[in-house]
Amino acid sequence: MGEIIKNKKYMIKTWGCQMNVHDSEKIAGVLSSLGYQAVDSEKQADLIIFNTCCVREHAELKVYGNLGRLKKLKEQRKDLMIAVCGCMTQQEEVARHIARRYPFVDIVFGTDKIHKLAGFIANAKLTGSTIIDIEEDEEGSIIEDVPVEREEGIKAWVAVMHGCNNYCSYCIVPYVRGRERSRKKEYILEEVKRLGQSGYKEVTLLGQNVNSYGKGSSDRVDFAALLRKVNGVDGIERIRFMTSHPKDLSDELIYAIRDCDKVCEHIHLPFQAGSNSILHRMNRKYTKEQYLELTDRIREEIPDISITTDIIVGFPGESEEDFLHTLDVVERVRFDSAFTFLYSKRSGTPAERMEGHISDSVKHERLKRLLYLTERITAENNSTLRGEVLEVLVEGVSKTHSGRLTGRTRTNKIVHFEGHDSLTGKLVNVRITDPQSWSLFGEALNE
Ligand code: SAH
Ligand code: SF4
Ligand code: F3S
Repeated sequence: MGEIIKNKKYMIKTWGCQMNVHDSEKIAGVLSSLGYQAVDSEKQADLIIFNTCCVREHAELKVYGNLGRLKKLKEQRKDLMIAVCGCMTQQEEVARHIARRYPFVDIVFGTDKIHKLAGFIANAKLTGSTIIDIEEDEEGSIIEDVPVEREEGIKAWVAVMHGCNNYCSYCIVPYVRGRERSRKKEYILEEVKRLGQSGYKEVTLLGQNVNSYGKGSSDRVDFAALLRKVNGVDGIERIRFMTSHPKDLSDELIYAIRDCDKVCEHIHLPFQAGSNSILHRMNRKYTKEQYLELTDRIREEIPDISITTDIIVGFPGESEEDFLHTLDVVERVRFDSAFTFLYSKRSGTPAERMEGHISDSVKHERLKRLLYLTERITAENNSTLRGEVLEVLVEGVSKTHSGRLTGRTRTNKIVHFEGHDSLTGKLVNVRITDPQSWSLFGEALNE
């Protein structure tokens, strides 16, 4: 993969979701195969890469703010290379805008171009002009031989599919990440096997809508079947997955979560809004009643499961009555945690052109009420865990308190307890003594 570059250092700054974080691991993999070394500071880096997100306007503004800052650095060091990639640059007008407005950027490349990075670097050096490559590759193609450099040795992300076909009317992801494509199960299993052999204990299978994994493929392995297969891989002790779209969640998948001992009792199941007319205009393809029925069914089969969600407030046309349906869903399902977002207008999406955009003040007022409720319920759910013994996968020593370990339960709750660093990467039974809103405190049981 090109010439080996000696003593060069790189820094990647990543915004956005786990898929982007995982893409940054691939970028790191490519760069280290070229001889680059990772550093934490922009000042030390010879190559700075911004891996961007555009799901909300706020995400984009942060990237522009950071890009502006790099201008000075580039003036001081002409040989510094700057690249911008990720979802933002998949919008052609944004890619062009970056090249025009920030001419010190050397490379702008799309989410499917990571395997070409060595060529971009060589080309940018040779020509001295900005290289832009965001063209979509052939429909359905997934490049499999990109090396991955993962950061830690306990948990790993594994992409099972790319893209999204759902076109929720507010969302830009299908436009920037392209059509849904599933990776072949052989590649996924091989990757998980290798992770197990190299000591990883947990994998999270990633996709915008993992429940539609395998649709359209010839070998008839759907997501439930894939989970059962991954469950059979030695070495791995925990399996997680995200995200699940409620419209595609089959009984088979519920049974697979129930039956597979390594699959954790946690499901992230965004409902977005409670009102049926808003759900319809969001193009979510389920009703409030169907969502409630689904969560009941999941809890019937897996009583201890934790359910988390994403919620948007202030979608165009959302009335007070519509919003009360959102609060009602939260009250009824009693989520273990909820990510709450203010609706953000995304260019080119159907919702952008809808009537009835909501004022910032109403959006903020609703968000405040929603947060008050979700936080109260999270705290109430956590308080029922006092005295319980939970299995914790230890992720490491707390950054703020030496001697304190941090890990997660199977239900994805953060637990802190006193213990020695040698427990990092181990499963430890912890009695919860002090459940709080954001995390649980406890003590390890002596085996
Ligand atoms: N594919 C996943 C998540 C995609 S983005 C899913 O369907 O669940 C993560 C979350 O961002 C979404 O669940 C949604 O709640 C939020 N989101 C997406 N577009 C948004 C927008 N335009 N404004 C506000 N929130 C948005
Ligand atoms: Fe966006 Fe909907 Fe696809 Fe999720 S399922 S990425 S919210 S379009
Ligand atoms: Fe993820 Fe943001 Fe892209 S949420 S898929 S990085 S737009």
